[in-house]
Amino acid sequence: MNIQWYPGHMTKAKRAMKEDIKLIDLIIELVDARVPLSSRNPDIDELGAGKARIVLLNKSDLSDERCNSAWESYFEAKGCYVVKVNSKSGAGLKQINGVVQEACKEKIERDRRRGILNRPVRAMVVGIPNVGKSTFINSFAGKACTKTGNRPGVTKGNQWIRLNKSLELLDTPGILWPKFEDQQVGIRLALIGSVNDEILNKDELAMELIRFLTKKYPRVLSERYGIETEDALEALMQVAQARACLAKGGELDLVKASNLLIDDFRSGKLGRMTLELPAQ
Ligand code: G4P
Repeated sequence: MNIQWYPGHMTKAKRAMKEDIKLIDLIIELVDARVPLSSRNPDIDELGAGKARIVLLNKSDLSDERCNSAWESYFEAKGCYVVKVNSKSGAGLKQINGVVQEACKEKIERDRRRGILNRPVRAMVVGIPNVGKSTFINSFAGKACTKTGNRPGVTKGNQWIRLNKSLELLDTPGILWPKFEDQQVGIRLALIGSVNDEILNKDELAMELIRFLTKKYPRVLSERYGIETEDALEALMQVAQARACLAKGGELDLVKASNLLIDDFRSGKLGRMTLELPAQ
């Protein structure tokens, strides 16, 4: 992916989202369950004011189950409904229809009072790049759905996917821009592979990961690579040794070792992990 966000892009994305949000009842926001805060843009709270909200903790197959519940409470306290999902396998998706009805019960009730029966809820999927929006839409909408075609008021090119008689989804997801004010946010997004790796040198990124692991999941490094030191550089050198990452002259290839360690983390080989917790 690697979209570079410049102020012009953000203004344009924000304007497009404002228009699209006018057309919908419900915002389905995807966040990456390993970094639920760093992988969202809080501007959506303001953009989506007055709309029903569901937050999907996506990629929850990769995140720490103990932390998932802390994040569920965090988003619920903000007035959102929350569902843990794995868009790749489809786990958790079945719950969503029920949660949509619950999240939109006021709108459904309002419609009923006005004599409008069975008007489907209209929803839009939003999230920063790489959180899994396309994967989610494909799994959730599946093959059974039918596109309902362009309608007045819908931005040209946008179509509604009719999921069932009570839910329609805008077929193109809304792309939110990541918010990099805090350097740690950039590091976490780089660790999960959601921004250009060049934000930091690979070895610096790997050492950030080592520092995090030493603090939060101390046994992982020793169990997987036999590392016993708490010094990040020393630990990286031990990964290089343990995995025979050697450059031409026989010296340790730290970039290779860094890639290996980061790939192990991203693919879940180090276990299920969450990189951040809600502020206490
Ligand atoms: P986007 O539209 O928001 O930009 O994201 P997209 O669906 O393209 O998903 C980005 C990557 O995240 C994809 O991996 C996708 O398979 C993976 N992904 C999405 N949801 C989940 C999930 O719940 N769990 C896990 N483990 N992975 C998920 P990729 O490496 O780019 O593609 P692929 O090799 O999987 O095809």
